[in-house]
Amino acid sequence: MRASNDHFLIWILCALCLSSSLSSGFTPDDNFLIDCGSSSNSTVGDRLFISDDFSSNILSNPNGKSLSTTSNVSSSSPLFLFSSLLRTAKIFETTSKYNFKIKKQGRHWIRLYFYPFVSGNMDLSLARFSVSAQNITLLKEFQMDSGSVIKEYSLNVTSSNLVLTFTPMVNSFAFINALEVVSVPNELIPSSVPTVEKLVRSLGNRALETVARVNMGNETVSPNDDTLSRLWVADGPFLMHNDQVIVGKFVSNLTKVNMTRDSEIMAPRSVYGTATQLGADADANANVNVSWSFDVDPGYEYLIRYHFCDIIDLSLRSLSFNVYVNSWKVKDHLDIGKLTSGILGAPYVLDTIASPIDSSKFKISVGPSNFHEYSAAILNGLEIMKISNSRGSLDEPSFDLDSKKVSNVKVGLIAGLVAGLLVAAVLATLVIVLCRRRRRLALVRHSKEEDNYGVNGRESKYIIGSVGFSSSKIGYRYPLAAILEATDHFSESLAIGLGGFGKVYKGMLRDNTEVAVKRGTSKSQQGLAEFRTEIEMLSQFRHRHLVSLIGYCDEQDEMIIIYEYMEKGTLKDHLYGSELPSLSWKQRLEVCIGSARGLHYLHTGSTKAIIHRDVKTANILLDQNYMAKVADFGLSKIGPEFDKTHVSTAVKGSFGYLDPEYLTTQQLTEKSDVYSFGVVMFEILCGRPVIDPSLPREKVNLIEWVMRKGRDQLEAIVDACIVEEVELESLRKYVETADKCLAECGMDRPTMGNILWNLECALQLQGNERSLHLKESSSQADLSNSWEASVSTTQFSTGSAVDIAGVSMSKVFAQMVREDMR
Ligand SMILES: *[C@@H]1O[C@H](CO)[C@@H](O)[C@H](O)[C@H]1NC(C)=O
Ligand SMILES: *[C@@H]1O[C@H](CO)[C@@H](O)[C@H](O)[C@H]1NC(C)=O
Ligand SMILES: *[C@@H]1O[C@H](CO)[C@@H](O)[C@H](O)[C@H]1NC(C)=O
Ligand SMILES: *[C@@H]1O[C@H](CO)[C@@H](O)[C@H](O)[C@H]1NC(C)=O
Ligand SMILES: *[C@@H]1O[C@H](CO)[C@@H](O)[C@H](O)[C@H]1NC(C)=O
Ligand SMILES: *[C@@H]1O[C@H](CO)[C@@H](O)[C@H](O)[C@H]1NC(C)=O
Ligand SMILES: *[C@@H]1O[C@H](CO)[C@@H](O)[C@H](O)[C@H]1NC(C)=O
Ligand SMILES: *[C@@H]1O[C@H](CO)[C@@H](O)[C@H](O)[C@H]1NC(C)=O
Repeated sequence: MRASNDHFLIWILCALCLSSSLSSGFTPDDNFLIDCGSSSNSTVGDRLFISDDFSSNILSNPNGKSLSTTSNVSSSSPLFLFSSLLRTAKIFETTSKYNFKIKKQGRHWIRLYFYPFVSGNMDLSLARFSVSAQNITLLKEFQMDSGSVIKEYSLNVTSSNLVLTFTPMVNSFAFINALEVVSVPNELIPSSVPTVEKLVRSLGNRALETVARVNMGNETVSPNDDTLSRLWVADGPFLMHNDQVIVGKFVSNLTKVNMTRDSEIMAPRSVYGTATQLGADADANANVNVSWSFDVDPGYEYLIRYHFCDIIDLSLRSLSFNVYVNSWKVKDHLDIGKLTSGILGAPYVLDTIASPIDSSKFKISVGPSNFHEYSAAILNGLEIMKISNSRGSLDEPSFDLDSKKVSNVKVGLIAGLVAGLLVAAVLATLVIVLCRRRRRLALVRHSKEEDNYGVNGRESKYIIGSVGFSSSKIGYRYPLAAILEATDHFSESLAIGLGGFGKVYKGMLRDNTEVAVKRGTSKSQQGLAEFRTEIEMLSQFRHRHLVSLIGYCDEQDEMIIIYEYMEKGTLKDHLYGSELPSLSWKQRLEVCIGSARGLHYLHTGSTKAIIHRDVKTANILLDQNYMAKVADFGLSKIGPEFDKTHVSTAVKGSFGYLDPEYLTTQQLTEKSDVYSFGVVMFEILCGRPVIDPSLPREKVNLIEWVMRKGRDQLEAIVDACIVEEVELESLRKYVETADKCLAECGMDRPTMGNILWNLECALQLQGNERSLHLKESSSQADLSNSWEASVSTTQFSTGSAVDIAGVSMSKVFAQMVREDMR
């Protein structure tokens, strides 16, 4: 009897399991469904949306107006089934909040329904408003002209209530037709996901916005047919044509899908049971991809989820194909059969994270892997979710990668300008403090743009004077006439370069000093800010490995900067793309060491680190002895305060050199320069551009390429011009150091001091004559020189220039450096 009782119990348990796995599968702990502006409850499928008259404890603005219409959304719209919810709306003319009591913390969906109808004298398409939840901006200055939409977000709610705030813009109002706050099953969004570059991103505290949720096979799946009430739209409109022909074929076999409870949460059977397939009938289409195209905002990272399920005919022995997003290969030879341990019809989900760096589209493709002769490819479903940025926003790209490349990101630009002005203000304040103290000595000049700088100082923002410079080449304001004379009226024959800022000319001053004259052309705010930053930085920081400022000119709206002349030009030109003789390995190492010194000085030479932000081979210049000097400080920033670890800024820099961590977090530290320096090191080693579209696809991106090459194939990446002379040990040390610079996480990257040490080692291993003793004393001299020559910022405010250059200080500093190097 006992035994049969036990059996009975097991049977009940099984029945329970079965019924729970066969029925909805998931019961949300929190399930707020609100039909806004309605006086009655409405049912959609088996879900009851409560009138907000009956949920007044949730809405903290009882004055919100209710509005209704009789017109329905188009019957062809997937939102037609929500018609009853969409016919009413709540209007807010002041900031209004919904406050939800959360039973179970963790990820929650927030779904906002918008249908901008016209009712009486109210036209909802005129509404302009922002929506935020917890501390995340969901919508910023949102407006909707027509149509209807469900905006879906998922947030990790970490307190016992969730506040949803609607903020109308000035002279406008906000509206909402319906909303949901619903628990998301824990399994749905993993806590971390690999990026296309095989780095790992944590998602725990990031909010997500569903940008696309698509069912392949061109069939829409309504929220009523999904256990988690998700809407899956048909893929037809996103399919890309190949010479006017759609390549994919829609297939369907729902009975072949073997669902489990977990897969039910990922997507319903109706998603896995349909697919768009390539190469269905061993046809001529075998060697193309099937692709879909989606519009996305640049400046964000996206979680991309591919849903696969092998529902096609068994006559295909194996289904093995490649999976792409844009040109990144997310998976090579994806073999669903293997990945699901041979269980027929079992769903498989693949997640990745990518950012559409320089476009506003994602092209999702599956295609032949060349591995198997007979190649088919399949995709059953796809989701694209935008990941909130470090500022907690999903609707304000703080992104100004390269204004030439991404011109339509006004918000980012403005953010960048504001940040720039702030920095200018900080700098100006510093400078003013300095001026006050050194008024007797400083050559204070007024600038006519003073008022544009947004700083209240009457005194000039620049102190460019002879204070503290041991060099006779002091920086000051040059008359335009002198510059015209020096450059033969900007004669084209004297033009030696073209930068983002403007043209560079070679010139000769009256005292026969050769100079480089950079003439800004961009009259933009940004150009002005960079002009200012460059002068401010260079007049404060002098070092033999930083290019020296000789003077500037701002007459007649000119933005001209005069530098010491660097005879051998840019490092870049000596590596590739020009007729110049190539540098030897030793020369390359010395150039590396020189520029590392310059950066090390920037990072550690004063209280606050200076972050260069645009380290690249085009910004490293060589003098007649091939000594390297770092140039172009237009983007530099003062680093974090002692108690902070980073500064937050709009992302700037050069494509290919940008620290991925900075790109995603917008948090700038010296380690962003270290990353770029790592890229420079590989560029120097390989003698090729960072991005070279003319090369075979796998080689286009230098860093991806060298990362893919095993470290046992070192020679394969070395520039052919130097491969003969490189000592393996030296090469190992060098590559190991460069590798570390490229660590995903800034904290794991070495300091410039550390890099310097390792580069010196690499030089030693190459068979360098300089003894360790010599090297130490030379670097010490180098450092104390730099102190002598520098006008420090406020740190040593009590000291005169002599104190700053004093022995004690330079000893302390040299000590610090050596400790750093260990
Ligand atoms: C709407 O639903 C709420 C909550 O379930 C209930 O209290 C209320 O009576 C319902 N109203 C109508 C008109 O059915
Ligand atoms: C909208 O749909 C409802 C019910 O689905 C119907 O009663 C109403 O007449 C429709 N309105 C219009 C303008 O067609
Ligand atoms: C939500 O955030 C908390 C606290 O940061 C974290 O412990 C938890 O893992 C997160 N939950 C999810 C589902 O990411
Ligand atoms: C997808 O389905 C829609 C509606 O059923 C149809 O109009 C469209 O032509 C289909 N797309 C393709 C590519 O067949
Ligand atoms: C669907 O799959 C089942 C199980 O593999 C198979 O028996 C059936 O023939 C398939 N249906 C079609 C239309 O291919
Ligand atoms: C479905 O998958 C389970 C394992 O997840 C397996 O035990 C079962 O046999 C499969 N059913 C069919 C019909 O293949
Ligand atoms: C498929 O797309 C990828 C990425 O764009 C591309 O590299 C590959 O060559 C394409 N394959 C075919 C067969 O066109
Ligand atoms: C938002 O709040 C959560 C929890 O309070 C915190 O972990 C997260 O860092 C905050 N995000 C931002 C962008 O402030």
